[in-house]
Amino acid sequence: MSRLLAEALGGAVGGLIVLGIVIVAIVLCLRHRRRTSDSSESSSSGQALPESQGARCLTLEELNLATRNFSNANFIGQGMFGEVYKGLLQDGTIVAVKRRHSPPSQEFVQEVNYLSSLQHRNLVKLLGYCQENGMQMLVYEYIPNGSVSAHLHGNSHAAGVRLEFKHRLSIAHGTAKGLSYLHSLSPPAIHMNFKTSNVLVDEDLVPKVADTGIPGLLDRLGVTGLSSRTANDSFVDPRMRESMSLNFSIQSDVYSFGVFLVELVSGRRAVSDQHIIQWVQNFEESSDISAIADNRMTSGFTSESMKELLRLTSWCVNPMSEQRPSMSLVEAEIHRIHEQEISLTTVMTEHTPIVTLGSQLFRTSR
Ligand SMILES: *[C@@H]1O[C@H](CO)[C@@H](O)[C@H](O)[C@H]1NC(C)=O
Ligand SMILES: *[C@@H]1O[C@H](CO)[C@@H](O)[C@H](O)[C@H]1NC(C)=O
Ligand SMILES: *[C@@H]1O[C@H](CO)[C@@H](O)[C@H](O)[C@H]1NC(C)=O
Ligand SMILES: *[C@@H]1O[C@H](CO)[C@@H](O)[C@H](O)[C@H]1NC(C)=O
Repeated sequence: MSRLLAEALGGAVGGLIVLGIVIVAIVLCLRHRRRTSDSSESSSSGQALPESQGARCLTLEELNLATRNFSNANFIGQGMFGEVYKGLLQDGTIVAVKRRHSPPSQEFVQEVNYLSSLQHRNLVKLLGYCQENGMQMLVYEYIPNGSVSAHLHGNSHAAGVRLEFKHRLSIAHGTAKGLSYLHSLSPPAIHMNFKTSNVLVDEDLVPKVADTGIPGLLDRLGVTGLSSRTANDSFVDPRMRESMSLNFSIQSDVYSFGVFLVELVSGRRAVSDQHIIQWVQNFEESSDISAIADNRMTSGFTSESMKELLRLTSWCVNPMSEQRPSMSLVEAEIHRIHEQEISLTTVMTEHTPIVTLGSQLFRTSR
């Protein structure tokens, strides 16, 4: 009797132990699943944060640390917004910090939130801002290889790689994509200060448009000084200069883009309206491309593609603003010309691509 009882008890205890193990295993397993789903949730919301919260508010302490107290060694230059410094944030991001003297304002934060929502591969990203110590600061991603202006007009040290026609077409295309993106928003975002020195390039020559909307930001903050700029800036639509009104529009951006193309193709600074008008006349009256195109493009180009780009350029700088093309059309045209130039100059043989030296290939003298 007692043996049977003992066996039954033993069986029950054994059963309990097994049951206990199973319960513990289930609890551990559930916990683990909770934890992993928690962590995946937190990592995905971490990625969404920067977008939903707009620009980051950085402290002056962080920026002092990043720019070594805004030391001369970190000074890059003077922009429309103010002095520009290069900096290194604690998380390893290299930034360009722009600062100017001004008391803090709520409008500034709103503008910065709006501008930082404009995100595209061909725009310099606005990362954050800071308002402390009587200063307003904008923090942008740092683009390492300088401006298109420095590449075209700078000394050879600043210039980096030599810009051949295909490089220039690729820069023009990326830049057009950036502007076209801005204009495609509703309501359209107007750049207002588009020029060759505001197009930066990275190590791979990918162009990034800088300073989007800064004149508008300054304007809304009550900073004047725009009229002096428009009086003396060949990138500004001459219509606006004549009327002395600052009605920036998508058409005035297209005009500025046309002047950018003039500089990109000719390699020379557009110093005055007269220069632009002259340039367009030269192109329309003569077929002598070598007098118009930058003779530093030593690997040549087809006159076909060059002429089409020149035609597009003169269309963009049409004095009648309503007759200028839209940026999306400009973008599509440059893309087409770029593809055409690649296929005209490259013939795929069975082994290697070769450059044709056929009649359509134009070579610069020198
Ligand atoms: C920046 O300024 C602070 C306070 O004035 C000082 O303690 C710090 O050493 C400075 N940092 C550098 C890199 O100069
Ligand atoms: C970028 O800058 C580096 C360093 O100055 C230079 O070696 C490189 O050729 C440049 N790249 C381009 C695309 O200009
Ligand atoms: C801008 O104006 C100044 C004088 O106000 C003049 O010396 C300079 O040549 C002008 N620049 C251009 C590009 O016209
Ligand atoms: C800006 O407005 C003036 C007059 O209001 C007009 O003459 C001019 O054409 C406009 N400019 C542009 C680029 O639309």
